[in-house]
Amino acid sequence: MNNVGVTAVSCSPSVPGLPQDRSRESERLLRIALERALERIADRELDAIRAAELRGERPTFGDVLEHYRATRFLYSAKLEQLGPRISAIEATWNRLIVADGAVFKIFRRHLIEDDRLVTGTSICAFEYAPSCWLVQHLVSARRHELTGTLAVCLGMASWVGRTSADAALRFTYRDSNPGVARLFGSFDRFLPDICLETRRCAYALLDPGHADPGVELPSGVTIAEVDRRLAPAVVAFYQRLGHRVGVRALHLDDPHAPELAERYRRHGLERRRRVLAALRGDRVVGAAVCHESSPGINFSFFENAIELLEVEPELQEPAGRAILKHLVSSALRGRQLPSEVPVALLCDLARAPLARAAELLPEAPKEYIVLTMRLADGGQEAVRRALLHHYRELFTEVAAADGAGS
Ligand SMILES: CC(C)(COP(=O)(O)OP(=O)(O)OC[C@H]1O[C@@H](n2cnc3c(N)ncnc32)[C@H](O)[C@@H]1OP(=O)(O)O)[C@@H](O)C(=O)NCCC(=O)NCCS
Repeated sequence: MNNVGVTAVSCSPSVPGLPQDRSRESERLLRIALERALERIADRELDAIRAAELRGERPTFGDVLEHYRATRFLYSAKLEQLGPRISAIEATWNRLIVADGAVFKIFRRHLIEDDRLVTGTSICAFEYAPSCWLVQHLVSARRHELTGTLAVCLGMASWVGRTSADAALRFTYRDSNPGVARLFGSFDRFLPDICLETRRCAYALLDPGHADPGVELPSGVTIAEVDRRLAPAVVAFYQRLGHRVGVRALHLDDPHAPELAERYRRHGLERRRRVLAALRGDRVVGAAVCHESSPGINFSFFENAIELLEVEPELQEPAGRAILKHLVSSALRGRQLPSEVPVALLCDLARAPLARAAELLPEAPKEYIVLTMRLADGGQEAVRRALLHHYRELFTEVAAADGAGS
């Protein structure tokens, strides 16, 4: 397809006038050729990914682990951290792989090495909340791969988009990771505000065995488990604090998400959600969302997380601190999983100083970006444009480097 554009450039008899007009016209046609080539590559890659899906190709857990090890996505310190949990991780992953297409999805693109097929690039996702998929483990065996990452990212966005009219993608990543910072960082230039939210969060691992808040709740404040009746007030509370797309994508109007739990249960897996609110009279003054799941899905433990831990900003020390502590301790106390399964805490940076004062975060916590993208309302097309833009830049850089070398 490149040739079509190039031939048109060199032979075009219809360009009248001066040589610079010709060269401007050549440039214009080359730009069009690049765009068409990119669009066609994207479509062919999507077809290839879909073909593998229709053939029902599924990896084993061993294949997945080998790919993660070989690419050092699982580096030795991480492997050491996961080591004692590896049999629980394997049990969960064996079920996830069977649940492929239900609550889990994995896409792989292959390379040929010594006449052997090996995984080149992979990506997977699990249904984090109803119709909201946490996309994870984007891993490539080759650096500067020009189409592999594009293929699996497009494949995943397209697949998730087909699962529901109101589907969303969620990425939780560290922007200190050079492999994804630029790629994921470009989405906000392409998605409209109604489709995208980026939050920077402090992260900590909590010990579920330490659930004692150690302080009294401020007088008049109670902690309640949110049901459908209370859910609109909690959503309104989050919106007042500036949460938009992320909260919308979680569908908190259905706080316990029983149908999602049932989808996991059908595959021998667990997923539960509870939403907690701190109430002063009828008014919501704090809230938290707690997810519980079969352990080992996400290697940073996001499947078992307490997030959106919030308190009215006016409630500073000591009331705000005590409310945060009680929300977390109620979340930990209500868990059904064994206490050795760690719980990740994600707390917006705005609330992090208070959470630190409540000893829920260490002095210098790790930070993660939580990126939520709704695929309705033009989101799907915008994700494709953002990915193509990223790869247009990569192709151009490769061409510039080749040009400089020749
Ligand atoms: C994420 C990934 C698939 C993106 O692939 P890609 O779009 O082809 O981009 P590249 O792999 O070329 O990475 C982009 C840049 O990050 C750098 N980079 C990627 N991983 C790196 C690492 N572990 N350490 C240091 N630099 C790294 C690359 O060298 C490149 O930098 P450069 O352009 O200055 O040379 C790939 O970088 C990868 O497999 N990373 C490791 C796994 C990972 O961290 N995944 C994200 C967790 S969800």
